[in-house]
Amino acid sequence: MNKYKIAVLSGDGIGPEVMAEALKVLKRTEKIFNMKFDIRESRIGGAAIDEFGTPLPSETVDNALSSDAVLLGSIGGHKWDNLPPEEKPEIGGLLKLRKKMDLFANIRPVILYEKLKKFSPLSSDITNKKIDMVTVRELSSGIYFGQPKIITDNYATDTMIYHKEEVERIVEIAFKIAEKRSGKITSIDKANVLYSSMLWRKTVGNIHKKYKDIKLNHLYIDNAAMQMVLDPSQFDVLLTTNMFGDIISDESAAITGSLGMLPSASIGKKINLFEPAGGSAPDIAGKGIANPIAQILSTAMMFEYSFNKPDFSKKIFNSVKETLNAGIMTRDISKDDNYVSTSEMGDEIISRLS
Ligand code: IPM
Ligand code: MN
Repeated sequence: MNKYKIAVLSGDGIGPEVMAEALKVLKRTEKIFNMKFDIRESRIGGAAIDEFGTPLPSETVDNALSSDAVLLGSIGGHKWDNLPPEEKPEIGGLLKLRKKMDLFANIRPVILYEKLKKFSPLSSDITNKKIDMVTVRELSSGIYFGQPKIITDNYATDTMIYHKEEVERIVEIAFKIAEKRSGKITSIDKANVLYSSMLWRKTVGNIHKKYKDIKLNHLYIDNAAMQMVLDPSQFDVLLTTNMFGDIISDESAAITGSLGMLPSASIGKKINLFEPAGGSAPDIAGKGIANPIAQILSTAMMFEYSFNKPDFSKKIFNSVKETLNAGIMTRDISKDDNYVSTSEMGDEIISRLS
């Protein structure tokens, strides 16, 4: 039997609590899927600053780079907000790790489950249609990483840059995902103004020639953000840059009722990383009320994207769906006091797994 090495980086805030539930699920899958996992934990972000004085210790990088897959919790908190940029948990921890692992594509699927429709901020005539989409976000370039980055007391600058090859590799991933879904891509840019978007749009168009059966549509980000609340059912695969993808994926998650539901897979050249997209939520950390679903679904995505076992991934997604359809909710997706704790939610999902 194959034993997979998994680097577990729980990070800050609610990270450790939701990760504990994901690990419970993983433990259970060893039995029912007949697999073996070697779990190796390391610190990242604020937790690493507190213990080692740096948000990304070299031991953490070594652990990640020698694993078969990485599970990440969440990063950051007010305690570390005033550090110099490169020492902050987000920039010196998460972004640096994304760069070191060359995680160039971030896949963020969103489904509006039947039972959650009433928690969506959108009206029922919008949510009665099927909402099932995935953002494919470029993750290792664009304005997050472009040089120079300068900050002085009087001015500051970031650089928005994309090279053709960087666009090509993410576009290929998006087309492959679209082939497996409904065959429709919306590429989101700001090509009426930004030069980098002009290159983006042209490159997407060129690659489209190889994928004749895929229907491609281009939208400007402002229009896309508006369409997302007017009629999200029109979207299937959303392909976009690092920053636009950061924004539009949060917006898409809010439609499903909670950011605590948004999982993601970050695809690298060799090793992939799986992280919920919701952030460390320091205000609710340690209270046992965080929603572990995004972390559990990120773990589910690991089966598809790192172990090539999409049917195992589907099984975990289905257990989550059944749990929600049974009316079991954590606090963020419940309108009254009738909610379960973080660990009860984990147990409920596990009980529907076999
Ligand atoms: C995300 C997060 C990160 C990002 C932050 C924490 C650096 O918001 O994964 O969406 O902006 O990429
Ligand atoms: Mn984000």
